[in-house]
Amino acid sequence: MSALLEVEGLTVRFGPFAVVEDLAFSVAPGEVLAVVGESGSGKSMTALALMRLIPPPGKVTGRVTFDGQDLLSLPERQMRAIRGGSMAMVFQEPMTSLNPVFTVGSQIAEALSWHRGLSGSAAKAEAVRLLSLVEIPNPAARVSEYPHQLSGGMRQRVMIAMALACNPRLLIADEPTTALDATVQAQILDLLRRLRAELGMAVILITHDLGVVSDFADRVAVMYAARVVETAPAAMLFADPAHPYTEGLLASLPRMGGDIERLHAIPGQVPPPFALPRGCRFAPRCEYAKAPCEQALPPLIPLGPARAAACIRHTGYELVP
Ligand SMILES: Nc1ncnc2c1ncn2[C@@H]1O[C@H](COP(=O)(O)OP(=O)(O)O)[C@@H](O)[C@H]1O
Ligand code: SF4
Ligand SMILES: [Mg+2]
Repeated sequence: MSALLEVEGLTVRFGPFAVVEDLAFSVAPGEVLAVVGESGSGKSMTALALMRLIPPPGKVTGRVTFDGQDLLSLPERQMRAIRGGSMAMVFQEPMTSLNPVFTVGSQIAEALSWHRGLSGSAAKAEAVRLLSLVEIPNPAARVSEYPHQLSGGMRQRVMIAMALACNPRLLIADEPTTALDATVQAQILDLLRRLRAELGMAVILITHDLGVVSDFADRVAVMYAARVVETAPAAMLFADPAHPYTEGLLASLPRMGGDIERLHAIPGQVPPPFALPRGCRFAPRCEYAKAPCEQALPPLIPLGPARAAACIRHTGYELVP
């Protein structure tokens, strides 16, 4: 099956500093790829680069092929049709993306008018259908409400409804549940899971919380300091993490029925783009680090047909030629 999205050498620079560096991954139709990493690893910049929404003076290089089209060289007019059309995005904070002075119905109707040419009562009926698709109770009444009349969870459902207005083939969700409390978080994830199964769209789920992806993602890409450090099918990554950073993320997850006291966080922080270590960027925090780790940046080393990790521990602390 050919990929829906194919990313090669994707790099985002602000001046001399790369905030996303040499990413390569692909997403098959209907597949869920989770992009995971602590705050500051470059996840949001990756999402914005895919949508071509990197703010100036940021520069994007590499290749992004979506549905057979070379996105980075597409004229802006065509890119605008893809954005919110076949590729849609949901952000962390729904209040900042919804306009407070318009009803949720009129905001969904605007997307429907722009991308599907619907207007008047047809647009309103479709807005109500979308609100019920995202399980908003009493959608016929809710469609006339303003964003501030809705709870955070309901606003996120509205954002998802807006994203679905154009039948996207790929939904990019950047920390869609981070601002919500745990119960609502679980409900929104259930909703996304159900919509993905019903609508067959591919999803890139971006999160700092590896716990969120375990029963949703097909594949996981772990990012650290602008680079992918491990990629693997989700089940494999959870059962047997290949990169010490992934291992650390897993160890810091609270376990079901586990002892919260024993939860241990990875010491230290993600280095900022202007202060990267010379060799492996994780070395200052890595319990397996040895002298060779600090010599050169380890490349992603294939560890099987579907997995790779950027750690030289797998090659006896030798860089592969
Ligand atoms: N407008 C900007 N100009 C320069 N650097 C930025 C800008 N916005 C974010 N960054 C930097 O880019 C890096 C990656 O940020 P981001 O993609 O938001 O990380 P994440 O989403 O993983 O938390 C961070 O070091 C951040 O400080
Ligand atoms: S390359 Fe070395 S420092 Fe980096 S993750 Fe592997 S063992 Fe740790
Ligand atoms: Mg982010």
